Amino acid sequence: MADLRQIAFYGKGGIGKSTTSQNTLAALADLGQKILIVGCDPKADSTRLILHAKAQDTILSLAADAGSVEDLELED
Ligand SMILES: Nc1ncnc2c1ncn2[C@@H]1O[C@H](COP(=O)(O)OP(=O)(O)OP(=O)(O)O)[C@@H](O)[C@H]1O
Ligand SMILES: [Mg+2]
Repeated sequence: MADLRQIAFYGKGGIGKSTTSQNTLAALADLGQKILIVGCDPKADSTRLILHAKAQDTILSLAADAGSVEDLELED
């Protein structure tokens, strides 16, 4: 873990966080780095961009469908 580097991409909406982070991390992966992406966006931009598909439902989208977070069970 001594070589672990953490990079945060943050800022107001629409400034290019997802585009910059995905391309930067893809380039680092091409160079042989092991990458873990932790996306905090309810739009799931991280997984959608890097996998070219929506890989999973987000908690917020499930809550919107169900009515509220209280309407969700742990299995959801
Ligand atoms: N360096 C750039 N030059 C020109 N356009 C860019 C650049 N980076 C991103 N864009 C464009 O700007 C728009 C917003 O980019 P992106 O979705 O990456 O922003 P974001 O900060 O992740 O947005 P959000 O806050 O909605 O998640 C997209 O249309 C993207 O193609
Ligand atoms: Mg984004």
